[in-house]
Amino acid sequence: MMNNAPGPPRPATPTEPTAVHAKDLTVVRGPRTVLRNLAFTVPRGQITGLLGPSGCGKSTLMRAIVGTQAKVTGTLDVLGHPAGHPTLRTRIGYVTQAPSVYDDLTVRQNLDYFAAILDPGRPAAERRHDNVTRAIADVDLTTHADALAGNLSGGQRSRVSLAVALLGTPELLVLDEPTVGLDPVLRRDLWNLFHDIAARRGATLLVSSHVMDEAERCHRLLLMREGELLADDTPDALRTRTGAETVEEAFLHLVDEAKAAARTKETTR
Ligand SMILES: Nc1ncnc2c1ncn2[C@@H]1O[C@H](COP(=O)(O)OP(=O)(O)OP(=O)(O)O)[C@@H](O)[C@H]1O
Ligand SMILES: [Mg+2]
Repeated sequence: MMNNAPGPPRPATPTEPTAVHAKDLTVVRGPRTVLRNLAFTVPRGQITGLLGPSGCGKSTLMRAIVGTQAKVTGTLDVLGHPAGHPTLRTRIGYVTQAPSVYDDLTVRQNLDYFAAILDPGRPAAERRHDNVTRAIADVDLTTHADALAGNLSGGQRSRVSLAVALLGTPELLVLDEPTVGLDPVLRRDLWNLFHDIAARRGATLLVSSHVMDEAERCHRLLLMREGELLADDTPDALRTRTGAETVEEAFLHLVDEAKAAARTKETTR
């Protein structure tokens, strides 16, 4: 059973800008408009969950935020700069949906490699070594540090990807379905780690998932469906607004509401 209480978020000070601000955000992929006129903000120092069914556009939105998505129009500001701005490169940690690690390197060699890329000019190998050791411990892979990534289980490989994102203590962590395929104990441990990163380091986390019970662990939620936002709220406010017991129920309620509104629009045309 997961603990439903996400713990208090760090209060954002009025002078502290939001981590992500989007307005009229639209993304076209191939012949399709995949994201349509999104408007939302992601507050700093909190965990925002990005939830919605497969294909609704979660990964596309994350790619837009980290600056790797083409054909993005509208406003999308990240840590005070337009998404994709070069100064954001070292301030954002991004874990893609598919683990991106080198199978023929060990866990530590993978991290050493990425640490060197992040910090090429620095002769202080010691500091780099400390960061690598800390990131490996953060994702609970210390006992596997010398194992080849290719010999790890799926969940362990995704944790190596997460450790790479934790190198360099980023201000914004964008994690695309980081808990897929993990057992309940590991999922709980990772969510505890996310809360620790937000509370202790003041980092902002944007975490996607299509597992609705994970929504209960977030400070705020962006609920998506078919490239549109259904809600941008706290789990509590969502439940209250829809009269639902769980976020999953609230989501289904909002989907029904959106469908009914679309039908009304059709018939009044
Ligand atoms: N290269 C592409 N060309 C055209 N359409 C694409 C391309 N990549 C993705 N899409 C479409 O964009 C939509 C959103 O995809 P995206 O990967 O963002 O969804 P998702 O919410 O992350 O799904 P999942 O939960 O399965 O990871 C999907 O309908 C998908 O078919
Ligand atoms: Mg995805």
